[in-house]
Amino acid sequence: MPKIVTLPGDGIGPEVTAAAVQVLREVAPDVTIEEHLIGGVAYDTHGDPFPQPTRDALANADAVLLGTVGGAQDSAWNLLPRHLRPESGLLALRKALGCYANLRPVRVQPGLEHLSPLKAELARGVDILIVRELLGGVYFDGDRKIDGDTAYNTMRYTTPEVERVAKVAFWAAEQRRGRVTSVDKANVLEVSELWRRDVTALRDRDYRGIHLNHEYVDSVAMLIVSDPSRYDVIVTENLFGDILSDLAAVIPGSLGLMPSASLGDGAGLFEPIHGSAPDIAGKGIANPAAAIMSAGMLLRHGLKRPDAANRIDRAVALALRAQPTRDLGGAADTQTFTRAVLSALESSPAVG
Ligand code: NAD
Ligand code: IPM
Ligand code: MN
Repeated sequence: MPKIVTLPGDGIGPEVTAAAVQVLREVAPDVTIEEHLIGGVAYDTHGDPFPQPTRDALANADAVLLGTVGGAQDSAWNLLPRHLRPESGLLALRKALGCYANLRPVRVQPGLEHLSPLKAELARGVDILIVRELLGGVYFDGDRKIDGDTAYNTMRYTTPEVERVAKVAFWAAEQRRGRVTSVDKANVLEVSELWRRDVTALRDRDYRGIHLNHEYVDSVAMLIVSDPSRYDVIVTENLFGDILSDLAAVIPGSLGLMPSASLGDGAGLFEPIHGSAPDIAGKGIANPAAAIMSAGMLLRHGLKRPDAANRIDRAVALALRAQPTRDLGGAADTQTFTRAVLSALESSPAVG
């Protein structure tokens, strides 16, 4: 029996994770689900945002479903030494799982163009996969410091780090439309020069069938919202991917529609890309679609159950039509939306 560890975390994390768990239990009743602490709530309980009981639970997990971590701008957690802050717990979790490739799909399902603030003709048919490098760059480099009036971080990549994430992007493109756009800042940064060189060499060596092009991150920030259909797979380094994926959330219409899968050495980590939304936490109005779709990605990539994953995607699309949440201009709260997903699942039972 597969074991899934859930880490609801802070803010709206527990609200959206509870919704995703309800859906998981419906489509995969045989899986064992075990809940543990991460983030600020873990710090408050254990003095550590990624405490030992959580680390231990991951040892025999087949996949991990995360909610969100972190507090509001004025939260006391933000005054802790950096390694004790909620976000450091999440980064340590990603590292512990060896999840170096973060897949962030940006899709506008047919009939849901009206949820996008973009003109319907721009939003229609958009299907982008952002592959964000997740264990390198400024996020993890030890060469960092704040000291008086000076501070620095270091964006460093090595060829093996670039190649392993680029392979995931090329592999994904092979199952899709065969196009990869590598995003960098090679007109200014040496680290991007290496990134571009290594991605190109890998394509020339092992992925000749893939169409590869390179674009600068500033220009992509404009094009991804003004002409999103130009992209199939985007591969980029950690910080650029973080920023571009929140921007890309504008296309489907909300951060609440952006799931993700982080893959690498061992068990995968599945999480919505949005944060803990302190402004709406505890009100029961968060959009759980990203968390529910992340559970779908868990079934697809973590447990290799594409049929169950497809059922979830279809049910979420139906629920978004029937019961759009407030972030999408609708009136449904978290529970109402989740019930709509569950009833859509009931009306499309599993095959066999
Ligand atoms: P955020 O993503 O939490 O919120 C940005 C805006 O989007 C807010 O107005 C929020 O209400 C809205 N929003 C986000 N998710 C939503 C949802 N599911 N339904 C409806 N509305 C939604 O970003 P922020 O405010 O910059 O960050 C808040 C905290 O979350 C910070 O502590 C940050 O570090 C943390 N954070 C955590 C993660 C994570 O756990 N993966 C990701 C991003 C930010
Ligand atoms: C995300 C978040 C995290 C990141 C933070 C909370 C550490 O913004 O998952 O996109 O920057 O990776
Ligand atoms: Mn982010």
